[in-house]
Amino acid sequence: MTDAEALNRRLVDELAAAGALPQEWRAPFLAAPRHLFVPRVIWEDAGGGTLTPRRRDENPAAWLSAVYADEAIVTQVDDGATPDTGTGSRVTSSISKPSIVARMLGDLEVERGMRVLEIGTGTGWNAALLTHAVGEGNVTTVEVDGVLAERARTALAGAGVSPLVVTGDGAGGYPPGAPYDRVIATASVRVVPYPWVTQTRPGGLILSPWGTAYDNGALVRLTVDDRGAAYGPFLDNTIAFMWVRAQRVPRPAVPAHLAGVAESTTTLHPDAVAFDDYDARFAVGVRVPDVVTRFEDAGDGGDDFTFWAFSGASWARVDVIDGAVSHRVRQHGPRALWTEIEAAYRWWEEAGRPETGRFGLAVTADRQYVYLDSPGTPVGRPGSR
Ligand SMILES: C[S@@+](CC[C@H](N)C(=O)[O-])C[C@H]1O[C@@H](n2cnc3c(N)ncnc32)[C@H](O)[C@@H]1O
Repeated sequence: MTDAEALNRRLVDELAAAGALPQEWRAPFLAAPRHLFVPRVIWEDAGGGTLTPRRRDENPAAWLSAVYADEAIVTQVDDGATPDTGTGSRVTSSISKPSIVARMLGDLEVERGMRVLEIGTGTGWNAALLTHAVGEGNVTTVEVDGVLAERARTALAGAGVSPLVVTGDGAGGYPPGAPYDRVIATASVRVVPYPWVTQTRPGGLILSPWGTAYDNGALVRLTVDDRGAAYGPFLDNTIAFMWVRAQRVPRPAVPAHLAGVAESTTTLHPDAVAFDDYDARFAVGVRVPDVVTRFEDAGDGGDDFTFWAFSGASWARVDVIDGAVSHRVRQHGPRALWTEIEAAYRWWEEAGRPETGRFGLAVTADRQYVYLDSPGTPVGRPGSR
């Protein structure tokens, strides 16, 4: 057994002991060791929103220990535009955290012989795991980035498996392989592409990371019905995936001028609506789905910070002084975003602080909405249905 294989076995054993690896996925994880898929150059967080390359050749032991840690590894930055001698700023491909991969594969409920479509090939590791589980000829995986798709084909061949790797926009699914029993996305969506529904057989499942501009972190599992619709619950709200390319969330710049804007105060701490509680953050995001937030440290070495919210021409800022009970609010533009966020949070509190697992998503040919407990009770943006 090589060092890498021994490390893989140890990771598999650790995941299993922690209850993070369903028994039926043990053999695929052993058959498709992660080191065969991680590229020679990976990217690490260098602070301040930057990423720097780490090369296998320069420190093979460090590379291998990164490969067999239960962590995601960044495998591409800036859509490949930054050379691997440079400094990256945006994560655009990664190999996901093993325990999350295992959890999602368990949630997918596959059986041998099922036809599976994956969106977001990345390194090809997940496609290899799926191929071991459902069998050769049953897995199609779509990757939008041609360089990554080609790299994945090479890695998959080297690992002795051959799912069909399609270069293209996975939002369109892959009609020639339909109908699928299962669709799994490994990039997050704000709107589920409807072709995923039409290309899944009735009774089939769609599993996808899902989010709003406000909160990226949910995982939804939809069951397709025989009328071209899909419904299902949110299973988690702690797994942040990168967005599919066409649904990326903008990163607005903070406004340069603050003079003359509406001022007020709030006793609601921004941590409560956006940080402390995943359920609160998810629910607020459902009510204000297009609002992007940002925390900005005051930079004074203490715990003071500014919470920003943006949407279109509107913005709000809340200045938090550590220990204070009331915080200064400034809002500008056609929408009072902090007021909306506060109202969304109060709505969630008045609804009895429902957990994310009580919410579900409905996807039909002409609309998508989040519901609470059953599809008959939509809970979208106030005033909309
Ligand atoms: C988290 S990575 C996937 C990890 C992968 N499953 C693995 O095993 O390594 C997300 C991938 O989705 C890809 N992606 C983003 N938008 C896409 C789209 N519209 N269609 C297909 N792939 C997309 C990205 O290029 C990236 O490689």
